[in-house]
Amino acid sequence: MNPTVARKALGVGVIGCGEIAQLMHLPILHELPGLRIAALCDLSDTVLSGLSAHYGVAACYKDYRDLLADPAVDAVVICTFDHGPVVKAAIEAGKHFIVEKPLAFTAEQARPLVAAAAAKGLVALVGYMKLYDPGYRLGLEQLEAIGRPKMIHVHDFAGRFDRYQSLYTQLRGTDIDPTVLKAGQAAAAAEIAAALGPDHAGYGDLYMTLLMLGSHDLAVLRGAFGVAERVDYAQAVGPYHILAVLGFPDGVPALLEVAFGAQYEWWDEWMRVDGEASQMLIEFQNPYVRNAAATIRLKQAAKADGSEGASERVLPGTPDTAFRRQWQHFLACIEGKAAPITPLQGGLDDLELAERIIKALPAKMAARDEAAA
Ligand SMILES: NC(=O)c1ccc[n+]([C@@H]2O[C@H](COP(=O)([O-])OP(=O)(O)OC[C@H]3O[C@@H](n4cnc5c(N)ncnc54)[C@H](O)[C@@H]3O)[C@@H](O)[C@H]2O)c1
Repeated sequence: MNPTVARKALGVGVIGCGEIAQLMHLPILHELPGLRIAALCDLSDTVLSGLSAHYGVAACYKDYRDLLADPAVDAVVICTFDHGPVVKAAIEAGKHFIVEKPLAFTAEQARPLVAAAAAKGLVALVGYMKLYDPGYRLGLEQLEAIGRPKMIHVHDFAGRFDRYQSLYTQLRGTDIDPTVLKAGQAAAAAEIAAALGPDHAGYGDLYMTLLMLGSHDLAVLRGAFGVAERVDYAQAVGPYHILAVLGFPDGVPALLEVAFGAQYEWWDEWMRVDGEASQMLIEFQNPYVRNAAATIRLKQAAKADGSEGASERVLPGTPDTAFRRQWQHFLACIEGKAAPITPLQGGLDDLELAERIIKALPAKMAARDEAAA
């Protein structure tokens, strides 16, 4: 890795300064030693001028290509809506990066990016911050003790998304041309429809649910058990609610359930692994609440010889913010002290699996107006 970068604080350009950038990336970049905010990029002048004043960052751009050409920018974090073209440009500019999930909208878009980033020797991470959660990592350490799982469950109903306005101060701009945003959404919908094929193009919303919410769960599952071999079953429970049965080597099944729109106050996302005589539950916390790590619940059946009764232990993850750990890991990778935990390949694996899940559903063609959008 570049030794000059390792010596001084890494200058990070933030591309897309909306909710997740303002709630997590910017404050963390501001406070963590070894990192500094070098430049900001957004479509909104209001957002740029407000954040520029707040963080004391003079370099502000409306075009990400200008930010990428700034020599003070050593690395970027990509928090826009459409990531693929920005990732491509970041690689061409030779910048290390974290790209928020999903890596791109389709596997076809993502495939060349994985090879290109590797060819340039860049540190390139997908922002699957849950894989850096201390509680999740503690859970991974417990897996061996469970032995071969009989069954894996991953459940994500998320929770209410309308609460963050009262938890954090967020700067929103109303000065973005709505036709630009609409054109971007229409282009994404067309790319997704093409990737799903004519028989499944009608599941665009469900595919987006898998990308926006469910990609975290695909990553959590993959982080523990590798890439699923098969999709044995899929059901569209609702327009934003999907159920799938995946198959892992050795015949281990995983039941995956992902839904947007739960009106719960609590965050409802967990992975449960059932072994022959023990069970582990990893309960994830609301990702927008800082310093809240996942909790592990371990249950052990009684010994057959009666020497020990059944037991239950709760292992709280060390309080930390997974996004913060992700940035520390990114820095360690650039300094050559760690190997990426969430490389681009994983982002591609998840996109391929999301497509396979959708294609396991019964055919549903796009409505005419959707296809034309
Ligand atoms: N890791 C997580 O848990 C998590 C949570 C929320 C969002 N995300 C991801 O982060 C991304 C952003 O989500 P958000 O909730 O912050 O959305 P948002 O709409 O609040 O913010 C997106 C920002 O990007 C800007 N933008 C869009 N296109 C741009 C372009 N071409 N150039 C410059 N700026 C551009 C917009 O003006 C907006 O301010 C999404 O891809 C989402 O999947 C991840």
